[in-house]
Amino acid sequence: MRRVAILISGAGSNMAALVASMTADHPARPVLVLANRPGAGGLARAAALGVATALVDHRPFGPDRAAFEAALALPIAAAGADLLCLAGFMRILTGEFVDRFAGRILNIHPSLLPRYPGLDTHARALAAGDAVAGCTVHEVTRALDSGPILGQGRVPVLAGDTVARLAARVQAMEHVLYPAVLRRFAAGERGRLDLP
Ligand code: GAR
Repeated sequence: MRRVAILISGAGSNMAALVASMTADHPARPVLVLANRPGAGGLARAAALGVATALVDHRPFGPDRAAFEAALALPIAAAGADLLCLAGFMRILTGEFVDRFAGRILNIHPSLLPRYPGLDTHARALAAGDAVAGCTVHEVTRALDSGPILGQGRVPVLAGDTVARLAARVQAMEHVLYPAVLRRFAAGERGRLDLP
């Protein structure tokens, strides 16, 4: 059984979808939800779901990323987590941290990578006039938003879309894609999943 730590910075809707999926014959279980922001709504949500939570506020560490990550690693080790799922975790991890968990960190990104790495993905898709948008689950490597793609979910861009409307449509797909990819990944499957 794989032991999953889910790292969040915000509302935690993807976290909740992942937690809800890890039941019955699923090859993984959630052992920790870890946030870097005290205000992360996902912390209360995780506690309500019965998952252990931890908070490591990045701010006291200032620019010292290594010290922040050393603190981050403590609850992960204490929980015995062997797989990390970044779910709206808005801190860039150092190469040293990524290497320590090589091949064991997944991330969900709100675009069809390699298009639109970084921020403001929906605004950029709308500005480009894209007919299709979506989300990507990928392995985290040293290069930002560039690791091997494990799955993508596509949604249409509709006439009159705003960032908020497109984001909501993409997020609904995120909540299907990420649990589906995690299940396969935890079972040792490395093939790519494309939805729909
Ligand atoms: C999600 O839409 C996720 O794709 C995005 O943050 C949101 C978090 O929402 N991630 C990134 O932008 C990563 N660069 P959630 O907290 O409700 O899951």
